[in-house]
Amino acid sequence: MDITKLTSRAIQNKPASRRPSQAAKFDPSRLIRMGFNENPYGMSPKAVEAIRNTASEANNYPDFGAGPLKKAIADFYHLTPDCVLTGSGSSAMIDMLGMTFLNEGDEVLLCMPTFAAFIDMAYVNGAVPVIVPVTEDQRYDLDALRKAVTDKTKLVIICNPNNPTGTYRTAEEIFSFIESLPDTVVTAVDEAYIEFAEAPDCESMVSYLNRFTRPVVILKTFSKYYAMAGVRVGYALSTPELIAEMNKCPAAWNLNKMGQAAAVAALADQAFSTESKGKIVESRHWLTEQMQKLGCTVYPSQTNFIYFSSPVDPVVLKQKMQDSYGIMIGAFEMSRVSIGLPEWNQAFIDALAEILGGCTK
Ligand SMILES: Cc1ncc(COP(=O)(O)O)c(C=O)c1O
Repeated sequence: MDITKLTSRAIQNKPASRRPSQAAKFDPSRLIRMGFNENPYGMSPKAVEAIRNTASEANNYPDFGAGPLKKAIADFYHLTPDCVLTGSGSSAMIDMLGMTFLNEGDEVLLCMPTFAAFIDMAYVNGAVPVIVPVTEDQRYDLDALRKAVTDKTKLVIICNPNNPTGTYRTAEEIFSFIESLPDTVVTAVDEAYIEFAEAPDCESMVSYLNRFTRPVVILKTFSKYYAMAGVRVGYALSTPELIAEMNKCPAAWNLNKMGQAAAVAALADQAFSTESKGKIVESRHWLTEQMQKLGCTVYPSQTNFIYFSSPVDPVVLKQKMQDSYGIMIGAFEMSRVSIGLPEWNQAFIDALAEILGGCTK
C-alpha cells in the first residue's frame, strides 16, 4: 500500500520535514552549537526552579487557557489578556496563523531568505508562497513586497529583525507599509529576535497595535532572549477579535504546564535576560570585527547571530566547520553563525581563519 496516495494534497505537495532528529546526526557532547540561534547563557534560574516545582504536578493537564501566563505577558506589554495567545513555541503560532487565515490558492507574501517555517505554513494549507528577494544589503524589501500584492494575497510576513540576515526595518517603515495594504490582507510581524536589538529605531510593533487600521499579528517567542528553546513557549499579540479567531485552533490549548510556569518566572526575571543580552551584544561586536578582519562581508546584525559571506561556498563552509572543527553553523544564500560563549566564538574565528587561510591578528 502506497501511503502517499492516502495523504492530503497539502502534505503530498510539501517537502519532507526539515527537522530530523539531531541525535541521529551528531554527538552532542562534541559539538559547538552555533547553528540554531540558541542562547548559550541558559534560562533564568528562577525559570528552572519553576519547572522543577511544576514537574511533580505533571500528571494533571495544564491550565488550558494559560491564564496566569497570558496575564503576565499582557501586564508586561500593558495590554489586556484577551490580546494574547500562547502556544508551544512561536512555530506553533505560525501553524495557527496558517490554519486561521489560509484557504487553498491564497497567496502568502514574504521576502527570502527568511524563516522557512512560513513557507511550510503556506504549503500545508494549500496556499501559494510568493517570494520577493531581500534588498542587496540583505534587508526586507518592503517596496518590492508592496508591488507584489495581488487580490489573492491573504498573508504578508515580515520577520524583524530578519532571520537569517540579522537586518531590520524601522517600526515607522513597517507601520507605513502595513497601512498601505488592502484591509483584506493580514500581516504577521515575527519579532523572535527583537529583544537583542541595540539600534534605537529597531523597535517592536507592540506599541503600534492600537494604531493599526489593518489586521496585524505580532509573533513572539521565549526561545531566544529567554533561552527557553527546549521548553517550547511562544505567543502572539493582536486585537481581541483577531486573537479570538486564532484561539479556535486546537493547538491553542496545548502549552504544557512546565512551559507556562517557566515563562511566567522568566518574564519576572528581566535582570537575568538583560545581563545575557549584554554579553551577546558584546560578542556580536567582537565577532563582527574579527570576521571583517578575515575579509568576510558581514551584515550588521541586531540579533544573536551574524550573516556573512566569505570566499567559501556556504554549504561547504558549514560542512567543513562541522566535520573538521565540530562547530555547527548555518548555510543559506550566505553563511550564518549564532553567537556563542566567548570561547566558542574564539574557536569559530580560529577555524574560519584556518579555512580561509588567513590570520586573525
Ligand atoms: C524568525 C523566527 N521565528 C520563529 C522561530 C521559532 O521559534 P520557536 O518555535 O522556538 O518559538 C524561529 C526559530 O529559530 C525564528 O528564527
